[in-house]
Amino acid sequence: MLAASFAATIKRTLFSQEEIARTIESLATRIAADYARKPLLLLGVLKGALYVTVDLARAISRVPDGPSSVGIDYLVVSSYGNSSRSSGEVRMLKDTHQRIAGKNVLVVEDIVDNGLTLSYLQSMLRDREPESLRSCVLLDKPYRRLVPVDVEYIGLTAPDAFVVGYGLDYQEKYRNLPFVAQLRAGVISE
Ligand code: PRP
Repeated sequence: MLAASFAATIKRTLFSQEEIARTIESLATRIAADYARKPLLLLGVLKGALYVTVDLARAISRVPDGPSSVGIDYLVVSSYGNSSRSSGEVRMLKDTHQRIAGKNVLVVEDIVDNGLTLSYLQSMLRDREPESLRSCVLLDKPYRRLVPVDVEYIGLTAPDAFVVGYGLDYQEKYRNLPFVAQLRAGVISE
């Protein structure tokens, strides 16, 4: 049962809690196999990747013969601020705790849209000389790219709508929805 304040503003569920869970299990299976017997560092991009990072980390731990260890670190960037449109400028609000050099780094994102955030992060992290660098996103909007970006692990393709939930916000609200939804017209002001 959803709180009334949410229900009134949501147009439709795009990806259910169950579909997201299945997608994360499937990503975790592929990732665990690719990093089998190697140490892996998951690098979640906050705040959006809050939920996908922890759920992915736990799902990887359930796969037999996966990575030899799984570290978790976070960095915080923002490009959208409180707007529904990207400012086009990516700001680093908090860097990682751990050193990146020599590690197998997997960047974890909730969504890749125009690609600017992930492109900026990949370039910044590559300069730190990791052993390997790959990216995993739960939701992809490939038709929205402004810059090309390599994403090795993609969960679901999102429709061309403003999506919220499971970490994704509108004006810092809706992140705690357990599913991904589209808001009703009129809720979003640009
Ligand atoms: C969102 C999302 C990605 C980025 C993707 O973050 O979490 O990091 O936008 O968009 P792009 O491909 O168009 O660059 P946002 O800047 O909204 O910050 P948040 O994670 O704190 O919500």
